[in-house]
Amino acid sequence: MANYFATVARGLETIAAQELKGLGATNVVPDFTGVHFEGDKKLLYKINLWARTIFRVLVPIAEIKSYNAEQLYRSVQKIDWSQYLHPKMTLAVNCTGKNKQLNHSHFTALQIKNSIVDWQYKEYGRRSNIDVENPDLLITGHIHNNKCTISLDSSGSSLHRRGYRPAMGFAPLKETLAAALITMTEWTPDLAFFDPLCGSGTLPIESALKALNIAPGLYRNKFGFESWLDFDLLLWEEIVTEAKEQQLWTIPTKIWGSDRNSEIIEQAKINSKNCGVEERVLFTTQELCNVTAPADRGVIICNPPYGKRLGTETELVALYQLLGDIFKQRFTGWTAYILTGSSALTKKVGLRTSQRIKLYNGTIPCTLLKYELY
Ligand SMILES: C[S@@+](CC[C@H](N)C(=O)[O-])C[C@H]1O[C@@H](n2cnc3c(N)ncnc32)[C@H](O)[C@@H]1O
Repeated sequence: MANYFATVARGLETIAAQELKGLGATNVVPDFTGVHFEGDKKLLYKINLWARTIFRVLVPIAEIKSYNAEQLYRSVQKIDWSQYLHPKMTLAVNCTGKNKQLNHSHFTALQIKNSIVDWQYKEYGRRSNIDVENPDLLITGHIHNNKCTISLDSSGSSLHRRGYRPAMGFAPLKETLAAALITMTEWTPDLAFFDPLCGSGTLPIESALKALNIAPGLYRNKFGFESWLDFDLLLWEEIVTEAKEQQLWTIPTKIWGSDRNSEIIEQAKINSKNCGVEERVLFTTQELCNVTAPADRGVIICNPPYGKRLGTETELVALYQLLGDIFKQRFTGWTAYILTGSSALTKKVGLRTSQRIKLYNGTIPCTLLKYELY
């Protein structure tokens, strides 16, 4: 058994903790922008492949003293790096957090990196090259007070990069946030799903992946742990094969997405094809004023623009008013959700909310508003 730490977006800690428990994690403890849990290597691989709401899984290897740069350097030297790193492997180091003396993440990361490669020089007479884009081993240091937690990043690049979305529309949602929103709305695949402002299709595609029980990591090129010294290829292949076998081929309903921008809709179609859900999601180019309910009941989730760029204010007010009118007039029997970062625009919807959930879209504080449409 090992200790792991999943990093998540602010506000999604509880949802992520539930998801990790469902995947078999034990001793699951939500923390600020992360979740601690325990498990074995199989669980580590499985969570990287299956988790929809988390960014990365870190494997803490040491908690060391780091009052200042010199102490950090000396503490890193005490770790036996031969367990994790061979000079033939490339390396990158990231850092988060700060204290009084170590208050520049880039500088702190440099101290850790210098100490590791100096350790290698002493041990082997040669050192790892640095590759910030695609390292064989990605190390993170997290400074908290006078301690630094050194971890290996088992995911490599963030897990929101599923690999199906090279094409992106205007202000796309992160796939991890889209998946978390879908969980929060308690949408189930027997209900119709519709996003009338779908952009590059993140919400419809993530609901289709969930409904078809497709592991979100199946389309990624690589996970960090695949180039580790202890990588167990047979175990990994077993987990991937199992995931492919668990995929469903039908769902009881269709999933719809529309947007007024035809180029973005073409991108959404490409994205859905890239992850094999193109037959389950119907994307159409449509102005919001022309949408009609594709079923008697279902769930709408959308994130309208809420930017405050010059000249767009009036347009946005009209858009939020239109959303309210269309929900009320054409979607009786549905439940609608709007994710927005503007409370002023929210008021323009003109409908009573039955729930408001606070969360973050990147660094922007947002609210997910729920409307029951009778
Ligand atoms: C913030 S983006 C949605 C991003 C999307 N969730 C994604 O992940 O790509 C808002 C979208 O609303 C669309 N939109 C704005 N006004 C519209 C209208 N009147 N009718 C239809 N679509 C509209 C824009 O084209 C844009 O793609």
